[in-house]
Amino acid sequence: MWGKWFTSNNKRNTNFNDSQLESSRMPGHVAIIMDGNGRWAQKRGLPRTFGHRAGVEALRNIVKTATTIGIKVLTVYAFSTENWKRPAAEVELLMRLFSEYLDSEIDELDSKGVQIRFIGGIDELSESLQAKIVLATDRTANNNKLVLNIAVNYGGRAEVIRAVRKITQQVIDEKLTIAEITESSISEHLYTNDLPDPDLVIRTSGDLRLSNFLLWQSAYAELWFTDSNWPDFKAEHLIKAIADFQKRDRRFGGLKNPK
Ligand code: FPP
Repeated sequence: MWGKWFTSNNKRNTNFNDSQLESSRMPGHVAIIMDGNGRWAQKRGLPRTFGHRAGVEALRNIVKTATTIGIKVLTVYAFSTENWKRPAAEVELLMRLFSEYLDSEIDELDSKGVQIRFIGGIDELSESLQAKIVLATDRTANNNKLVLNIAVNYGGRAEVIRAVRKITQQVIDEKLTIAEITESSISEHLYTNDLPDPDLVIRTSGDLRLSNFLLWQSAYAELWFTDSNWPDFKAEHLIKAIADFQKRDRRFGGLKNPK
């Protein structure tokens, strides 16, 4: 089958072969560490900002592909709690790109059934960006084709600390006993509390690490790496990652054929 994505004037603008995918073994939740925007730009003798702009284009394309091939949850790492250490101009540009993305994509995403969410310390972002996030999340809250989680000011450790604080407060308030603290109670206090854990975590640009992304949720995720920089990541890469995922033997700590 040839995947199709129609623009409003009905012209196909994405074309890829997803025949190698088994529809019964699709990962429900795919998470992506979109790395290598800076290197993509440097390779071309361009300022890093160009890499980030090209990264937005890659994201647009991958979100479309995800809706077309039937992924239900896509989480993308757009800005980590550590990214504040970057030069102020780069941080400002990234924040502007998030805002512009919401302005320019909201109609299209909404019409395609995408539910937009943000995960991370959103209350530390500018008021204007927070306002746009609230508008976009409210407007798309009932969409159910794809949940798009955009991780901004996100850190896996900070997320676990936040959960531990909430749980501790419940214990202090005598709403929970210490014995009642389980894996589920931690999961329930994460940003992703109503979503399945990621099945597949993809990282672009050659580095082989998680960099504080979905640490709790990725305990049993399959990891897939590519040397391609994020702006070069196309539908074919996503399809290859999923095809490789479908060949993996997932045992979740158990045995394949217990005797
Ligand atoms: C990592 O590349 C990328 C980021 C820190 C930003 C990710 C942002 C985008 C893809 C664009 C905007 C996203 C949205 C949601 C609209 P890097 O800068 O660390 O690259 P490098 O490792 O090569 O320097």
